Amino acid sequence: MEKRISITDLRAMKKRGEKIVMITAYDYPSARLVQEAGVPVILVGDSLGMVVLGYDSTIPVTMDEMLHHVKAVVRGTSRTHVVADMPFMSYQASAEDALRNAGRLLKEGGAQSVKLEGGARVAETVRRLVEAGIPVMGHLGLTPQSVHQLGGYKVQGKTPAAAVKLLNDAMALQEAGAYAIVLETVPAQVAEAITAKLSVPTIGIGAGSHCDGQVQVFHDLLGLFTDFVPKHAKRYAEAGPTIVEAVRAYAAEVRAGKFPTDRESFLLDERVFREASHLA
Ligand code: KIV
Repeated sequence: MEKRISITDLRAMKKRGEKIVMITAYDYPSARLVQEAGVPVILVGDSLGMVVLGYDSTIPVTMDEMLHHVKAVVRGTSRTHVVADMPFMSYQASAEDALRNAGRLLKEGGAQSVKLEGGARVAETVRRLVEAGIPVMGHLGLTPQSVHQLGGYKVQGKTPAAAVKLLNDAMALQEAGAYAIVLETVPAQVAEAITAKLSVPTIGIGAGSHCDGQVQVFHDLLGLFTDFVPKHAKRYAEAGPTIVEAVRAYAAEVRAGKFPTDRESFLLDERVFREASHLA
């Protein structure tokens, strides 16, 4: 069996100054493609609520939905480290809830680590998970599960006080045993300062180029989700229009009787066919 990339490998990458690439994936074929592209970490993000399930935020995502997608991604990979997002209210109410749900993501889902949102207020929960042997990735800055409290998807850490709070939260997560921290939508200078102060890797999304790694949403990179395109996303392909064009071509050929041809059909041997016609 192939060995998966571990949190020790990721920490070593920070030490070597090697950028960590992370991308989301939510199903078997996309996970296979991401692994084939040599990406070391896949996040099965609760962003799946928006880009795969059509919810208007990550808040409705359930543990069962997460598990369904985590299992598919794990089946599609053998080397990649798979991080499973803990959905809203799977860890906020108590450390016991967090332990039970994080345990399910590893034990039933097959993920290698979990990610949860929040700073000092979740540090004790992070500590409990880590003590139980569950590697935890933190997530600070724009934390989408708190969208209603934040008043929208806005840049975080813009005032001196907010920037210092972000640093303190990052320190609290590191202290609690988090092995890496996502910094989402924070000013580049703030992310750079936090990255320099932490011994664990930071993974940025809309947080400038000085983080130890970067994460992007699969559908944003490939042009598969056009309802909302965040400023931090860069399109590396226009797969959406390519798919529409291909589906249109298929529909046109069916309507014109041009598909299927003999090449896509299963034909009887002429002799057998003649015998069969004779019987009829
Ligand atoms: O759910 C997700 O995809 C995430 C990333 C945007 C970091 O949390």
